[in-house]
Amino acid sequence: MNPLILGIESTCDETGVALVRGTELLADVTATSMDEYARYGGIIPEIASRAHLESFLPTMHAALDAAGVELAEVDAIACAAGPGLIGSLTVGTAAAKALALATGKPLYGVNHILGHIAVDELVHGELPTPVIGLVVSGGHSSLLLVRDLARDVTELGGTLDDAAGEAFDKVGRLLSLPYPGGPHIDKLSQSGNPEAIRFPRGLSQPKDRERYPYDFSFSGLKTAVARHVESLGGNVEDQKADIAASFSEAVNDSLVDRAIRACVDHDCSVLVIGGGFSANSRLRALAAERAAEYGIEVRIPPIRYCTDNGAMIAALGSVLVRAGVAPSGIEFSNDSSMP
Ligand code: KG4
Ligand code: ZN
Repeated sequence: MNPLILGIESTCDETGVALVRGTELLADVTATSMDEYARYGGIIPEIASRAHLESFLPTMHAALDAAGVELAEVDAIACAAGPGLIGSLTVGTAAAKALALATGKPLYGVNHILGHIAVDELVHGELPTPVIGLVVSGGHSSLLLVRDLARDVTELGGTLDDAAGEAFDKVGRLLSLPYPGGPHIDKLSQSGNPEAIRFPRGLSQPKDRERYPYDFSFSGLKTAVARHVESLGGNVEDQKADIAASFSEAVNDSLVDRAIRACVDHDCSVLVIGGGFSANSRLRALAAERAAEYGIEVRIPPIRYCTDNGAMIAALGSVLVRAGVAPSGIEFSNDSSMP
């Protein structure tokens, strides 16, 4: 069965619409309001919501044109129902519900985080099961045991405080880098020494490892970086690359340590990594290195599918339709803190 799915993403600042047939991506169009936030140093939900409203129809028409299909040919519509910014979600789900009502198509309100895993199917083919999924971005850092993407996903752990990308963005601010700081720290860290400063790894004490085997904590690390920067007075410039590299090492060490542990504990030979933070060069290298030691295969979609987009939602919609899961109908609620 190769259903044609229209996917709609609007959890944060990206308005994404994509068309997927089975596991084949036909078109993926994204509009973003990110450029508006550099001067604020963070996303302004009100601006993001308005931008979704303006971008939705042009983005959808561009996606249908690029795929060369008519709306009438679509078998089902999928839209992200959470987690995310409530205003952004409301615009996207309202649009999806209106489309479903007007066309009579089945509608699926889906979990954005699972979309970050499902999108891998568009690149590497159907997922084997079980797999461990590590989803890392500015808004989430979750470790998932996926026995069946349509029906059986367990959240093994997640961050107890900041998401990995959020920690990078906050440290970017401490180092006076432009927003969002993540990619800038990544670039800077490539010319620094990751062992120059031994920053703490959150939850690394034996009692914490036992209590939180699959969780992350980055706020203590962020405070340690802030203290280190303070201790340098005004002389941060000379050490910037070393601070970036040492900080990046601490975050990625924690992420990879927990992910590999989850694979070993749950007999999973495949680790799928998704979310905007998976663009990070050190995460990719470290995951490949440690996974190889355990004979684990690491799947990471190309970077353009790791950031938020409509393809991930269409891919998950396709998984649900192919698995025979009943549509949500139009009554479902948005859930900004969906687990
Ligand atoms: O998935 P995404 O586009 O949006 C969210 O749902 O958050 O992820 C964006 C996050 C930001 O925090 C950004 O700084 C971070 O991912 N990021 C990176 C890199 N590229 C993006 N962090 C570290 N290294 C990168 N190369
Ligand atoms: Zn995301």
